[in-house]
Amino acid sequence: MSARIIDGKAVAARCRAELKARTEELKGEGITPGLAVILVGEDPASQVYVRNKHKACDELGIHSEQYTLPGNTSREELLSLIAELNGREEIDGILVQLPLPGHLDQKEILSAIDPAKDVDAFHPQNVGRIVIGDYFFAPCTPSGILTLIDSTGVDMTGKECVIIGRSNIVGKPMALLALHRNATVTVCHSKTRNLPEVTRRADILISAVGKAGFVTGEMVKPGAVVIDVGMNRNAAGKLCGDVDFESVSPAPVPGGVGPMTITMLLRSTVLSARNRRKKA
Ligand code: GUN
Repeated sequence: MSARIIDGKAVAARCRAELKARTEELKGEGITPGLAVILVGEDPASQVYVRNKHKACDELGIHSEQYTLPGNTSREELLSLIAELNGREEIDGILVQLPLPGHLDQKEILSAIDPAKDVDAFHPQNVGRIVIGDYFFAPCTPSGILTLIDSTGVDMTGKECVIIGRSNIVGKPMALLALHRNATVTVCHSKTRNLPEVTRRADILISAVGKAGFVTGEMVKPGAVVIDVGMNRNAAGKLCGDVDFESVSPAPVPGGVGPMTITMLLRSTVLSARNRRKKA
């Protein structure tokens, strides 16, 4: 089956070059965008994500602070750090890397972040704003996916957009963003019946399942835009997405959605700095 391969790395590099210019402009006005990233515990995948975020900030000239807290950090300690970061003028974005250790209440922690610094858009107030289409921040992975789709020149209006996965981080916000782009949206999940029948309708198919080789060629309409959000390890320990690359050829992982997620985080941080500090 022939499908177009989206070069996520190239799209991300173009966006980052634009952001670097905007960052330099802000710096010329005495404003250095600042991001604080909090990692609780030692999840190896999270450690890699956080390191990549920090490195990307460095490359753009964004100030970044990393807080690595032990896995047994108490609710009070974490809330107190968030309160301190909420109060610091030079911090424009606060990100708490998920997943959190089980003893911490994710909803409570995310709700403690100042909505004006919530670059992940996970605070309930920002989630609600996305639902009604009046939002400033949007979650990074779905925003990155929209940018990748835009890079293909495909107009989403009236298109069948099928999303596999209903997480709060990817599937649900992706559905809302696609709806705001006037796509006809279907969200599939583990209880969906006749999944291949549904996915074959898709002009745009987005897979965020977390299972290597889950999406195969017979689930995909010829010519569809396929976006693979999965980050899995196969039996040989190699990093791979949800989509069976041999039979489908979507945006390859790594190099597809991952770099876009980080790029959107940088964009939100720069936008936040402009919004918060150029008001006066
Ligand atoms: N863990 C996996 N994806 C994300 C993300 O986009 N943001 C945060 N904070 N944690 C994550």
